[in-house]
Amino acid sequence: MARLKVAVLISGRGTNLQSLIDHCADPKFPAEVVLVLSNRPGSAGLARAEQAGLATGTLDHKLFKGRADFEQALDGLIRAHGVDLICLAGFMRVLTADFVERWRDRLINIHPSLLPAFPGLDTHARALATGVRFAGCTVHYVRADIDAGPIIVQAAVPVHTGDTEETLAARVLAAEHRCYPLALRLIGEGRVRIEGERTVIDGAAAPVDATTNPLP
Ligand code: GRF
Repeated sequence: MARLKVAVLISGRGTNLQSLIDHCADPKFPAEVVLVLSNRPGSAGLARAEQAGLATGTLDHKLFKGRADFEQALDGLIRAHGVDLICLAGFMRVLTADFVERWRDRLINIHPSLLPAFPGLDTHARALATGVRFAGCTVHYVRADIDAGPIIVQAAVPVHTGDTEETLAARVLAAEHRCYPLALRLIGEGRVRIEGERTVIDGAAAPVDATTNPLP
């Protein structure tokens, strides 16, 4: 089967991008990164992509008249690369409902909380302030609402007494690096169906939970 062609959109350091690149380096992995785009010139993630020999581009949102123009350029570049699926990986621009609809069910995101808890920014600070015992991450299909959409993979991590935002973020990030490639693999294998805004994973007896990493 042809490998899924993936564009990864970033704004910063790109550690999730790196985990996707590392998994896609295996020719047996059912997806390949064909394009990495950043809205921030010089972001560290671009250097990771170049290091891996991938096509990269920078679309500085500040240089566009408005969101519609920015997204038009984004869409054009992505289509020019024959992309099947867009992965948002720390991409810090809100996409309009128009763009999200154009890429409906072909656009996924990773968020550092157990959605629907703590959508938006400062998730770790809010988790600590709330006193939750478990934090985690979610890979989900993107819908127009912020950090909402059918969940593909989640992983939970414990919140420890004395955790700071930094220690909790590091524990969650390690889980993110397992979850994103797993979600991409499941989609690449054609096993993810959306039924009534929930996903069903073919061949997985239970919802896919990457906490203990029992890969289905
Ligand atoms: C991750 O925590 C991701 O969940 C969030 O932004 C962060 C990006 O980190 N959306 P990196 O750029 O992948 O290292």
